[in-house]
Amino acid sequence: MSTSVFLTPERIHWLVSAEARPWLDALTAAPPDDRQLLEVLTRLRQQFSPEHAAALVEQARLRKRAEKKFPGRAKEMFFERTALEQASPMPVSAWTARRYGRYGWVADLGCGLGGDSLALAEAGCRVVAVDWQELALALTRANARAWGLALRVHPLRANVTRPAWDVDVAWADPGRREGAQRVFHPDRLQPPLAALLALQRTHIPHLGVKLMPGLDHTFIPPEAEAEWISLNGELKEAVLWFGSLVERPGRRATVLPAGVSLWHEGAEARVARPGAFLYEPDPAVIRAGAVGDLAVQLGLWQIDREIAYLSGDELIITPFARAWAILEHHPFHLKTLNQRLRALQADVVAVKKRGSPIAPESFRRKLRSTPGGRPVIVVLTRVINRPWMILLAK
Ligand SMILES: C[S@@+](CC[C@H](N)C(=O)[O-])C[C@H]1O[C@@H](n2cnc3c(N)ncnc32)[C@H](O)[C@@H]1O
Repeated sequence: MSTSVFLTPERIHWLVSAEARPWLDALTAAPPDDRQLLEVLTRLRQQFSPEHAAALVEQARLRKRAEKKFPGRAKEMFFERTALEQASPMPVSAWTARRYGRYGWVADLGCGLGGDSLALAEAGCRVVAVDWQELALALTRANARAWGLALRVHPLRANVTRPAWDVDVAWADPGRREGAQRVFHPDRLQPPLAALLALQRTHIPHLGVKLMPGLDHTFIPPEAEAEWISLNGELKEAVLWFGSLVERPGRRATVLPAGVSLWHEGAEARVARPGAFLYEPDPAVIRAGAVGDLAVQLGLWQIDREIAYLSGDELIITPFARAWAILEHHPFHLKTLNQRLRALQADVVAVKKRGSPIAPESFRRKLRSTPGGRPVIVVLTRVINRPWMILLAK
């Protein structure tokens, strides 16, 4: 987390103070947009230093931005731009924190602004919130107070790879950015996965590590449980669980807000041409490698061995996949596609692809769409190893 131009630890302390509070509350209720910014800053500078005026405005604007990650709570919290980008969304933190409810003390290794520390404290734990950045600790302290959890969250400045605490249960959320860039390899995390695994072997047997959702399965130790978590259909993270936090070694997909999981059991679905419905598995199911398991559980089949689309003749409502009614499907051929679109009076609202080299956006311009006609989604994919096109009712 870089120290923001506006928000240093000292300015966070000031924002929490009785002097700043009424001003921050008023700005939070109506955060200035870009057009109003200069006028509002000028007014605030009659009362405060330019730094404090800027800190007030920045905090109010960050609270608004944070509403998506902290629904219903952001208005009372304290943020910094990078720390907010790195914070776990509240429903996901609440889900992962549930496993810790039966432990007393838990360490949050790399607490950032405290998103996970707060969830752990709400689950009933006492939390040692560790970070090496004073700004992170100032935010975590302010947020614990805002949530009425100050007695349960204990910020500690330390390097997490050199444990200065005596707690054998922990959560770790290593940084996934180098400057403005996202990192995609566990060795590039801050701290790296290898350092956290070494810590797990020597000091902290019961550990959960939050990782990038694209985590390759080769990084999963045999004794660990790997959980891929999505929220509202968007893949958020992979977590490796160790020690008594493991429910069962292996891979699982968890879908939020439904709060349901599907385990990878290695089931193989049959492969056949599409039926009446196309099913798009949740990305957590795909990443956990549980597409075959989902198909077998629901009585569906795959349309290609390598493609993560399923099909069936009945409509099944499941949190693990999205279903679309198939209007028709054919081997891929642009001329035929345009003939069929015209016959259907189809308004092409989206082009999706899976397993096709075609770029959807430029392809869409080649389609004979009927504006205001019947809404249709065009899917470019493969069926039993052949390029195929499927028309879905929107
Ligand atoms: C991804 S953020 C944590 C976000 C947090 N879970 C939340 O929800 O707000 C990672 C944090 O780890 C801290 N960090 C990285 N390496 C560290 C180390 N070796 N020791 C202590 N803190 C570290 C960074 O300063 C950063 O605040």
